[in-house]
Amino acid sequence: MNAISSLASSRLPIVLVLLVALGSQAIPQPASDIVLLAKTAKPVVAKHGMVTTQDAIATKIGVEVLKKGGNAIDAAVAVGFALAVTHPRAGNLGGGGFFVIWLAEKKHAVALDFREIAPAAINEKSFLDGNGKPDIAKTLRTGLGVGVPGSVSGLATALEKFGSGRFSLADLIAPAIRLARDGVPIESDLKTSLAFFQNTLLRWPSSAKIFARDGKILQDGALVQRDLADTLEAIAKNGPSAFYKGEIAEKIALAVREAGGVMTADDLARYKTEMLEVVRGSYRGYDVLSMPPPSSGGALLIQILNILEGYELIGGPNAPHTLHLMVEAMKRAYADRAEFFGDPAFVKVPLTHLISKDYAARIRKSIDETRAIPSAFIKAGITPKKEGENTTHYSIVDRHGNAVAATVTLNLNFGLGLVAESTGVLLNNELDDFALAPGVPNAYGLVGGAANAPGPNKKPLSSMSPTILLKDGKVFLVTGSPGGSTIITTVLRVISGVIDHRLDIAQAVLLPRIHHQWMPDEVRPERAMERVMPPAQWIAFETYGHKVRFFPFNLGAANSILVTPNGITGISDPRYLGTLAAGH
Ligand code: GLY
Repeated sequence: MNAISSLASSRLPIVLVLLVALGSQAIPQPASDIVLLAKTAKPVVAKHGMVTTQDAIATKIGVEVLKKGGNAIDAAVAVGFALAVTHPRAGNLGGGGFFVIWLAEKKHAVALDFREIAPAAINEKSFLDGNGKPDIAKTLRTGLGVGVPGSVSGLATALEKFGSGRFSLADLIAPAIRLARDGVPIESDLKTSLAFFQNTLLRWPSSAKIFARDGKILQDGALVQRDLADTLEAIAKNGPSAFYKGEIAEKIALAVREAGGVMTADDLARYKTEMLEVVRGSYRGYDVLSMPPPSSGGALLIQILNILEGYELIGGPNAPHTLHLMVEAMKRAYADRAEFFGDPAFVKVPLTHLISKDYAARIRKSIDETRAIPSAFIKAGITPKKEGENTTHYSIVDRHGNAVAATVTLNLNFGLGLVAESTGVLLNNELDDFALAPGVPNAYGLVGGAANAPGPNKKPLSSMSPTILLKDGKVFLVTGSPGGSTIITTVLRVISGVIDHRLDIAQAVLLPRIHHQWMPDEVRPERAMERVMPPAQWIAFETYGHKVRFFPFNLGAANSILVTPNGITGISDPRYLGTLAAGH
């Protein structure tokens, strides 16, 4: 049975939410009203396999690969290349990402780390101004913030090591080449994101040539990316070395340097995807497999779940006591993030300790079940800085029970916005995920962030949390999300919704989200939270003493899959337009 359907294209009422979020990376596009959607949303159900992504065209490409006998990894590679064309604000060749893979036959999990890496000429002072103060414009708006891209290497490595062998790299890139050459319709999320981030793109002539006509950002017709098609063709023909060595690499390095950066062709030639052990935990009888450092995501997720495991979360997902405990657990975990996490090639992250049940038990002793503890009492240290919020996540399960949780990013929407001349490759600004000024005392005279200090050939810390849950050795849940520092709490909410509250995957994804990252000391729920909680419940939550500041926009896009006795069920997060969950 073909179970292709989409909540995003359903006829449910959609409320236009005009969002004024200056400086925010969220798109003030017509956002789906999650409270209304939650009343009728149903997951897509399929028998053999499922693909959920943020872009309908990419999803269909993934499903075709599965239908032709490809495994989840083959499909993930095809989707990854397709998203670079159809979803250019986050899908990419010029950025990086992580895969968490479950191989059913071998009963083995592996994490692929194709995070961007700092060029060799970056150092601790690269992002400081003349007064030694962090200069965020250097990372966000110049070539200095561009990390050496990892995605091409990551996708090729995934296929080489874990593909079914039925498809060549060229086979899986072919749909992306066609889309780049023939054009992608400018509608839905592509149209809205181009309009909202036009200044990011129009400031670079090489980008304006592609994304604008007569100086105006494209808002109709098709987005044709001929140079990108040529680059994809070169990779299809000669493998990743076509990207990392020779003409394309030279052009990328030159574009970065002309934009004020320090990347060389040698930096690109050295790039290598790392195969890592997943970070493992358990939650109420389920195994949790997630992304280890250089992401903080998996470890924080497991730490928070370990803390919550010691409580009975009764009264439903929005019960004030449950939300209070979640928030208190989040605070402790994010305080540890600020202190301990960085690129494991440079710093020793005390992972075993942080994800241990004993540590969680100790933390629980510090939690007051009746009132909020101010963040300053938890740990006085570094103020975490705001992270890039734009990223995209996709989840895939195949007929054999293999699964891929994939999260990829350019950091901000469209990254730096700079296309390397005549390559079609949009470049990231991922180095903004470093703590820009470690050693600089904060208001309390304390220093920190050294673990995530910028450095040569170092990876900036991420929050991306592609995650797979197993039950009795079989895939149960595949999830993840974009959202910068809110990724971890978004994924937590989905997992807790499914396990603690027995929600189906649509209901779990549509739960209003809630976030606390220790500093600043404020709880940040989605606006919808206020509407799903009866006033008395909301007042009860406030009496714990949390400082609440609503997000003016929806959080995350948790495109997720839940395997149930009734079939493989999926949902692409309807918070954004144009998403699609599809199976076969
Ligand atoms: N740039 C967002 C992240 O890696 O977490």
